[in-house]
Amino acid sequence: MGVSARGQRRILVTSALPYSNGPIHLGHLLENIQTDIWVRFQRLVGNQCIYVCAEDAHGTATMLKAEEEGMTPEEWGEAMRASHASDFARFHIAHDNFYSTHSEENRYYSELIFQRLQEKGHVFTEEVEQLYDPEEGLFLADRYVRGGCPRCGAEDQPGDNCDECGATYDATALSEPRSVLSGAAPILRASMHYFVDLAKSEDFLKSWTRSGTVQPEVANKLAEWLNEGLKPWDVSRDAPYFGFEVPGDEGKYFYVWVDAPIGYMASFKDYCSRSGVDFDAFWRPDSECEVHHFIGKDIINFHALFWPAVLSVADFRTPTRVHTHGYITVGGVKMSKSRGTFINASTYLDHLDPEYLRYYFATKLSPNTDDIDINFDDFVQRVNSDLVGKIVNIASRCAGFLHRHFDSTLAPTLHDAKLWEDVSGARERLADLYDTGTVSRAVREITALADLANRYIDGHAPWRLIKEADRAGDVQDICSMGINLFRVIALYLKPILPAFAERAEAFLGVPPMTWEDAAKPLVDHRIGRFRPLIQRMERKAVNRMVEASKEHEPAPVENAPDMDSISIEDFSKVDLRVARIVEAQPVDGADRLLKLTLDVGDHRREVFSGIKEAYDPAALVGRHAIVVANLAPRKMRFGTSEGMVLAAGPGGSQIFLVTPDEGAAPGMEVR
Ligand code: MSP
Ligand code: ZN
Repeated sequence: MGVSARGQRRILVTSALPYSNGPIHLGHLLENIQTDIWVRFQRLVGNQCIYVCAEDAHGTATMLKAEEEGMTPEEWGEAMRASHASDFARFHIAHDNFYSTHSEENRYYSELIFQRLQEKGHVFTEEVEQLYDPEEGLFLADRYVRGGCPRCGAEDQPGDNCDECGATYDATALSEPRSVLSGAAPILRASMHYFVDLAKSEDFLKSWTRSGTVQPEVANKLAEWLNEGLKPWDVSRDAPYFGFEVPGDEGKYFYVWVDAPIGYMASFKDYCSRSGVDFDAFWRPDSECEVHHFIGKDIINFHALFWPAVLSVADFRTPTRVHTHGYITVGGVKMSKSRGTFINASTYLDHLDPEYLRYYFATKLSPNTDDIDINFDDFVQRVNSDLVGKIVNIASRCAGFLHRHFDSTLAPTLHDAKLWEDVSGARERLADLYDTGTVSRAVREITALADLANRYIDGHAPWRLIKEADRAGDVQDICSMGINLFRVIALYLKPILPAFAERAEAFLGVPPMTWEDAAKPLVDHRIGRFRPLIQRMERKAVNRMVEASKEHEPAPVENAPDMDSISIEDFSKVDLRVARIVEAQPVDGADRLLKLTLDVGDHRREVFSGIKEAYDPAALVGRHAIVVANLAPRKMRFGTSEGMVLAAGPGGSQIFLVTPDEGAAPGMEVR
């Protein structure tokens, strides 16, 4: 099917918005390269294709990360946005906009969509009991709680499922839970939450997910969830939170996953206001434009259930298609920091050409959701044998003869019409493969065409003919044919290797190639000087990159004492002192904390202590306590804690302050 026969498509494309709590790594690159190949292909065939992404700036993780770095979440988000945008640009990812979810456009659409959900009766409120960290003063998401597994009893398990026995549970079911943030025992605390009643969208989703909007295996997974019935979706979070406040409800925020996908619209809206593209033409319910999301398989529920449900209730169009990819593995296992296979974009760029990775990923991309394995030997081998050995080789074998003997001019006719037809005629099939995301097959077919071209050159051996006086003229025809084949092959690779294609265009002396150029040969045309179009890849450079990515575990100490004991030197590092409590005050917004002012002999300091349930502040004034005096100061939401007061007991009202006997004086060392 000819592209022009379909008419111009108008397409909006997105990749998932990377979180601002970490750098861009191989996983993000896989997704954005996959998307970018698809986008560049669409543009090459003449479709309007707008590609937006953004920083996912909101949520607890970002808030805590910013705090750790001593920045406001806004400052932190902006710094990460800039660094992520630059990483992607260096990998030639052609985003039209890389915005942020912390934007006015996003606030506007989040409020609008939420309001429409409310008006249509899809939102209700309900009281929820959750674990709360009394020291940090915040509700704890599952990943911030650890404790004993309620099924097998294994200690120190995550808040959602057990690493030992695989049980899944609520964080509230853990025995002896601890906050990962402060180490405090969390308490149960009730709070009002907003819920989206997804059950009301089940009928819509059952048909939407079966209408060609997702891959078949994804549709099956979604059908399982839909058959179990959708639970209401908790879409609010309590302060402190970095996000958008729910209008008219101070201290309540939209959950990060509410405004994250709306961030696609917001980024596009910002692009529209600069480019004059019509936002509504793309987002009204009956829009003929297309919207395509590219995502990893971990976030299917958000994109193929919650998002279309929300959009349809809020009177916006739903996605045309959600393209889901699998996870990156290296040598068959998850990326690992200690092995050096958790590779960040910036580390990669210190050592290797971004197009090597674009090509290697392309050899692996398919429309299914299988994981994608990276093997470093295979990586080097594919790049060198395909790109350098087969493809660039076509041009380098032909260019020299044309430069030296024929004034760099291509012959007026094609030497082998049948071979030209084979290579030029592949364009429709390749277009289909690109359009359906079957990129690995496209690459296989393109390298097979390169094999044909090399065999053609081998068969005619221009290096021999050039020495035979009566045949030397044929060399121009043969090398011109070779250059024509190279040109079409470089064009076919253009979505994958845009910088390589640009160098090829300069060498060929042609304007930027479009897909239809594959139909027309280049004859009677003067080409430019040949220059190396791609460097061989060095295995050593890969090794250096892996080495630079390694986060070394501390080396094991010889004759290390068993884990449960410490040396006397270790113990003597702890500076314990007698302190007198001069003042004790409750802390606003923290149920279990007291702010203590301590006299430590030669100075005073402030310490926050989780003992409020056990002690009346007034009764503490004048008492002696033991303080860890050289504990690094800890910035907390309410101020900085300059030390720690020792107490015994399990927590809650069962806390017993450690006090020296009568006669001890503030400042005395404890040993
Ligand atoms: N912020 C959310 C997405 C919001 S979209 C409205 C998020 N961020 S993420 O940074 O964790 O992931 C961004 C994308 O990268 C996701 O599609 C995710 O699947 C993908 N990948 C992250 N690690 C990956 C691998 N190791 N392998 C392949 N893709 C993975 O989720
Ligand atoms: Zn268990």
